[in-house]
Amino acid sequence: MLKRPRRNRKSPVIRNMIQETHVSAANLIFPLFIVDGENQKVEVKSMPGIYRYSIDNLLREVESCLKLGLNAFDLFPAVEEALKDKYATESYREGTLYLRAIEAVKKNFPEACVVTDVAMDPYSSDGHDGIVKDGEILNDETLEVLGKMALAHAQSGADIIAPSDMMDGRIGYIREILDSNGHTDVSLMSYTAKYASAYYGPFRDALGSAPKNGDKKTYQMNPANSREALIEAQLDMEEGADFLMVKPGLPYLDIIKLLHDNFHLPIAAYNVSGEYAMLKAAIANGWLSEAVIMETLLSFRRAGATSILTYHAKEVIEKGWVK
Ligand code: PBG
Repeated sequence: MLKRPRRNRKSPVIRNMIQETHVSAANLIFPLFIVDGENQKVEVKSMPGIYRYSIDNLLREVESCLKLGLNAFDLFPAVEEALKDKYATESYREGTLYLRAIEAVKKNFPEACVVTDVAMDPYSSDGHDGIVKDGEILNDETLEVLGKMALAHAQSGADIIAPSDMMDGRIGYIREILDSNGHTDVSLMSYTAKYASAYYGPFRDALGSAPKNGDKKTYQMNPANSREALIEAQLDMEEGADFLMVKPGLPYLDIIKLLHDNFHLPIAAYNVSGEYAMLKAAIANGWLSEAVIMETLLSFRRAGATSILTYHAKEVIEKGWVK
């Protein structure tokens, strides 16, 4: 035998020398849930180790992450049912929980990178990402709400705005509004290929944001399709997106690779709530070892993701697996 691939695996030094991909703290974005009130830190039942924080505790959490070298955060609000309406007006009202949270983080920690989520569902009495009329999700009318929301986030100090709604034309619409209001430096991370997935269950529990009627199949993508992701990516690129995101992550590694190979924008992968819950449940039962966490994060990098939104972000740094 002349060729023995095992020679390249014979010692840790050689294995490390030829390792092609790495995960570093700089690649990670930590999603954080916020609630109104004071001194709140309530664990999400289906996501052990993940909490809803009131703003005071959110600031403590962000500070402890920054000390670890984890510098990017994606904020999501849990909104009281009484504040929700058909038009998600709570999403851009002055002084609302979410806007106060963005402002507080940026004021206390200007070096932190704050990603904000633009979509109607946490504020919508219908639990949808768009305005619902006679059971239909209206596209163009929804854009107006998204535009107001995005502008409010930019005015509150958001570094990156991430529209997660999957309405057509939203990237261009929001870019135009941001630019015409002087926010040319605020980035757009588009949820480009967001699938109508069953993996979002724990997130919807965390925010109480599940659709009251119907499902999200008229706007989120069919899990069976990959070529459609190229159409979405092309449009987002033309409309001015700075990042393309694929969501969920693990069941869609092929889509991450597809966008990586066809577009030159950075690709983000969202390792969603259900993926987190799945690993945590299996680890808690002793059915899988904790090593599955790093194997999963590495797979996103190998597929071509530059950035990973993951609920594991803090724990992998705390445990010394990621630097
Ligand atoms: C909604 C939104 C969802 C997630 C992020 N933004 C859920 C949905 O579309 O219903 C899911 C994130 C996760 O599951 O971790 N705009």
